[in-house]
Amino acid sequence: MAKEMVLVSGGAGYIGSHTTVALIEAGYDVVVIDNLSNSDLGAVEGVRKITGVDVPFEQVDCCDKEALRAIFKKYPFNSVIHFAAYKAVGESVEQPLKYYSNNLGSFLNILELMQEEGRSNVLFSSSATVYGEPDELPVTEASPRKPATSPYGNTKQMCEDILRDTVAAGAGVKGIALRYFNPMGAHPSALIGELPRGVPNNLVPFITQTAAGVRECLSIFGNDYNTPDGTCIRDYIDVVDLAAAHVAAIGRLVEGCNKKDYEVFNVGTGRGVSVMELVEAFERVNGLKLNYRIVGRRSGDVESVWAETSLANNELGWKAVRTLDETLAAAWAWEKHVRGIE
Ligand code: NAD
Ligand code: WQD
Repeated sequence: MAKEMVLVSGGAGYIGSHTTVALIEAGYDVVVIDNLSNSDLGAVEGVRKITGVDVPFEQVDCCDKEALRAIFKKYPFNSVIHFAAYKAVGESVEQPLKYYSNNLGSFLNILELMQEEGRSNVLFSSSATVYGEPDELPVTEASPRKPATSPYGNTKQMCEDILRDTVAAGAGVKGIALRYFNPMGAHPSALIGELPRGVPNNLVPFITQTAAGVRECLSIFGNDYNTPDGTCIRDYIDVVDLAAAHVAAIGRLVEGCNKKDYEVFNVGTGRGVSVMELVEAFERVNGLKLNYRIVGRRSGDVESVWAETSLANNELGWKAVRTLDETLAAAWAWEKHVRGIE
């Protein structure tokens, strides 16, 4: 029997490359497209090395509908995982149109072409950012979405709504939005991982770059929050576990096990970890001292957020299994690989 084929948009990026590995290991054929606006071919090469499969890659901008149509014509996939988006929260505040144009435009093209070319299943990369500052913890999928505090966050809410409405209109498309909490870490091979351009916005790449000497000092944004150690709490999810959640969600759509044609799942560990706990765990696991200092709060930061994951656990049959220690060791191994550190 022919293997199911999945189109992975943004597959040269951080989460997309790990998901491509997981899909191939689960027996899917994968086509990767990416415009390389925030990545390079290194991740595709890494995926090929890890899997031993010569994964097809096409350099395409999802905002270019005719170029994207050519991909739909060329490959007989019935499922799409849509990662392709810009993701820097601060930049989205400075350049909102860049974010609305890319993040909405690319997804609209994907959905329109799925309808026009008769393709069924789509997974959308959503984010815990849709919950804002939650009233109750942990957050469940039924927790209210809060008004977005950035154009980036707004694009995630809008794309969720666009998908929900498209499915509801009976367009022949079934969709799942996965709300990722805080992805971190790297593949255990250290052949793929997170490679931010410029100064990292996110905590873990800032930590690993500081340990590698690329950054002088990690600034911890505030220790006066109403949490046990005063620093913010997040649900840090290993990118390999996150990739496995995509395989489970695609399987649910392909096999028709979905209960509704549009579903939403939290993808986290269910456990909150503070910034200070994470820093201390990184030092302990990797046997090094990190240069850090406490500075003022970063504007827009949520105090605490972590996921209730029982829906994903029960419905997708998926659970985060990697420990914080394993993840932080993998993050450091990847950074050392990138920097050529022994
Ligand atoms: P990433 O930047 O590493 O990957 C995104 C990829 O999409 C990049 O390779 C980029 O070149 C590509 N891309 C962007 N616009 C494109 C376009 N118009 N056409 C083709 N390719 C395009 O980011 P990531 O961390 O892997 O995130 C993947 C998805 O997950 C994004 O949608 C992001 O918003 C979402 N997400 C990420 C996080 C996180 O913390 N990393 C959390 C929640 C949600
Ligand atoms: C985590 C914690 C910071 C950097 C962002 C987006 C969200 C989602 C994931 C895409 C916070 C603290 C950070 C540093 C620090 N992305 N921190 N020093 O803010 O939870 O979420 O990425 O959807 O939409 O908003 O993640 O990694 O930036 O921060 O002290 O140099 O680390 O204050 O408490 P965040 P983060």
